[in-house]
Amino acid sequence: MRDRFVIGNWKLNGGLAANALLLDALSVGVVEKSGRSCGVCVPSPYLAQVQAALKDSFIGWGSQDVSRFESGAYTGDVSAGMVAEFGSRYALVGHSERRAIFGDTEDVVAGKFGLALRAVLTPILCVGESLPERESGKTEEVVWRQLQAVVVAHGVSGLSRAILAYEPVWAIGTGKTASPGQAEDVHAFLRGKVRALDKAIGDQLSILYGGSVKKSNAAELFGMPDIDGGLIGGASLVAEEFLGIWNAL
Ligand code: 13P
Repeated sequence: MRDRFVIGNWKLNGGLAANALLLDALSVGVVEKSGRSCGVCVPSPYLAQVQAALKDSFIGWGSQDVSRFESGAYTGDVSAGMVAEFGSRYALVGHSERRAIFGDTEDVVAGKFGLALRAVLTPILCVGESLPERESGKTEEVVWRQLQAVVVAHGVSGLSRAILAYEPVWAIGTGKTASPGQAEDVHAFLRGKVRALDKAIGDQLSILYGGSVKKSNAAELFGMPDIDGGLIGGASLVAEEFLGIWNAL
């Protein structure tokens, strides 16, 4: 059995008071289930708050990015080591918003992935195609190119300590979820590529789906054979929605 996850990505949202209410509701509502993990990836200034609020709960936490550098004159960056100091378990790397808005190239993402591993964080590597790429039949080529950059840099063994997330860009924040079949096709493709390199690692790799997951569509998505949970944006900010998604896992 592969490990299954529901991970929230708060993006650039939150505030001390609102976070406290949400974290309270989650620490009461997320009931432990074996083989399943729950987490929240928060803006880095809130890591201390989240650590204090969740330390006795079953929920893990982490950051939404890490610096491509370890330390030094890189104003504004937050290193993987700093994120780890707050008891974090996870770090997102290669989210499509980082790639598209902040210019993270495949090499940069691979570097961040390596630094997250070195800090003993579990990188959650995000891959996904844009709408024009899907419409021109390039989905598999794009997601494999994004994954391959990490495999080339860190070996397939790097994936044995990571989580993969398929997030089609056209489904993020749009309310337009990939159908369970569309998502499953890409998940099965990605797993097949990893299995071809190392069968055991491919079989064990948890692949999460992200893009407009809500409590109303989570069960159907999570029921697909190669979908091992979800990476949740907007719905992770609403306790009732996020708990509904957790309960669907
Ligand atoms: P939404 O759930 O808001 O579509 O965002 C998905 C996402 O980008 C999670 O990383």
